[in-house]
Amino acid sequence: MTVPDIKIAPSLLAADFARLGEEIARIEDHVELLHLDIMDGHFVPNISFGMPVIASVRAITDLPLDCHLMTTNPVTYLESFREAGADSVTVHIEAIPDPTKAMTKADELGLGFAIALNPSSPFASIEPFVEDCSMVLIMSVEPGFGGQSFLPEVLPKVEKARAWIDGHGLATDIEIDGGVDPESAVAAVSAGANVLVAGSAVFQDPDPVAAIDRIRNLSGA
Ligand code: DX5
Ligand code: ZN
Repeated sequence: MTVPDIKIAPSLLAADFARLGEEIARIEDHVELLHLDIMDGHFVPNISFGMPVIASVRAITDLPLDCHLMTTNPVTYLESFREAGADSVTVHIEAIPDPTKAMTKADELGLGFAIALNPSSPFASIEPFVEDCSMVLIMSVEPGFGGQSFLPEVLPKVEKARAWIDGHGLATDIEIDGGVDPESAVAAVSAGANVLVAGSAVFQDPDPVAAIDRIRNLSGA
């Protein structure tokens, strides 16, 4: 198995929004990207934040902004996400079963492109599109809320995705999202994930940098 470099992507959903600047400043030298969860109240039963927050974050950090779109109609907003400062977007296959248009549009806009899979969606549903993705996101909780427990039953899907990507000679990142802590990170990395999203495990810890180091060291990065 070829696992590309490990990247840690703290999810801002678990940060204190009243002190977002300080929260980011504290961790930014210790992580590779920031994960921004956009929820529309339709695709998932929760609403988070949108363009103004992305633009404010863009203004205070040079870290790549990894925008996870839990929305029913992501294509409509790709240009606005780009303008707000997103570097990459992740769309859900359950929201757009044929993401070809989204992929083309993201490419035109210079956005990195990833497809996400809910826990019950099989890897086969995204297989035809993986070659054109910079990343695949495997949800390890039902999307919509932070602070849930990691679902180990998604690990075989991570293994399958890594085997497929390796088998095709690709360097596609595999991101795991939901309930990632030092312990589940080890399991996710062993299965082949290399981009670790962690919300609560980072921002709910009194020492977020130590929490990041624990995740990184234990997962062998
Ligand atoms: C859930 C989001 C996650 C979430 C992760 O729908 O996609 O990114 O913020 O939070 P934790 O790490 O607390 O599970
Ligand atoms: Zn997410």
